[in-house]
Amino acid sequence: MKMQHVLESQQFTVPLLMEFFQRARSMEKIVARGGTMDYHDKIMATLFYRPSTRTRFSFEAAMYRLGGKVFSTEQANMFSSEVEGEQLEDTIRIISSFCDVIVLRSLESNGARRAAAVSTVPVMNAGDGAGGQHPTQALLDLYTIYRERRSLDGLSIAFIGELDQGRTARSLAYLLSKFDRVKIYFVSPPELQMKQDILDHLEANEVWYSLETGFENILGEVDVVYQTRIHPERVSDHSQLRRYMIDAGVLPKMKPDAMILHPLPRTVELDKTVDGDPRALYFRQAQNGLFVRMALLTMVLEDE
Ligand code: CP
Repeated sequence: MKMQHVLESQQFTVPLLMEFFQRARSMEKIVARGGTMDYHDKIMATLFYRPSTRTRFSFEAAMYRLGGKVFSTEQANMFSSEVEGEQLEDTIRIISSFCDVIVLRSLESNGARRAAAVSTVPVMNAGDGAGGQHPTQALLDLYTIYRERRSLDGLSIAFIGELDQGRTARSLAYLLSKFDRVKIYFVSPPELQMKQDILDHLEANEVWYSLETGFENILGEVDVVYQTRIHPERVSDHSQLRRYMIDAGVLPKMKPDAMILHPLPRTVELDKTVDGDPRALYFRQAQNGLFVRMALLTMVLEDE
């Protein structure tokens, strides 16, 4: 299962996802025994033009757990030669001559694709632009759901929040469209609803979806509540923000075996009073990022 680049969710097929989940599961066992030195001769570069806690640290921890080495700039827009006007293509050409894999969070929604076009080593899209994709996040989201539920067919999910620029929701919608009988509710203020390109993709793949302005009537229906951030300044009617917040008060309305996920970081849309509920899986979801990114690194670094 050698892969060249990881750029977008569409490149994963269902058989590939199933094989990938097995590989991520085996990484859990490797971490439990302290890691491996199998990739001691490999070097990963992380190049982040936007802030990150989970993605960058989990990729770096993943490489260390595999025995590899890392060099990094967490604020490439300040600490790389972009400050001097260097183009992304030149930066990638140079960095790819120093390492075996590049993890890139770019400012533009086609940044990872531009990088892959010139890189001599695999490129991992660690989240690109506003409204682009975040495929490695979607893979860990899907792994978290699969790990709990053992099947993705027939899944019912509510994406809540600022969906038009939500690269995690966009990437996960693409992955879910590959499974049977999936139902997707997009819950958002009208001005922040999911973009038409994703809706067109779902229609083309005969995936059921519904656009909602509140979650009151659907919370009791869904297997997964996928909460995302809302920047209040992007909502025209602030009195409506409360309609998109998950707190202890709404927990009784959810299914007893529902899952609450959030890619994090969170602000006010997911209250800390939820953290102790057994359905709150967002910290485990973030931890799964380590296993999923280890699996991804082994996929792109393995020998032919
Ligand atoms: N979920 C996610 O991408 O988090 P970071 O921005 O902290 O990497």
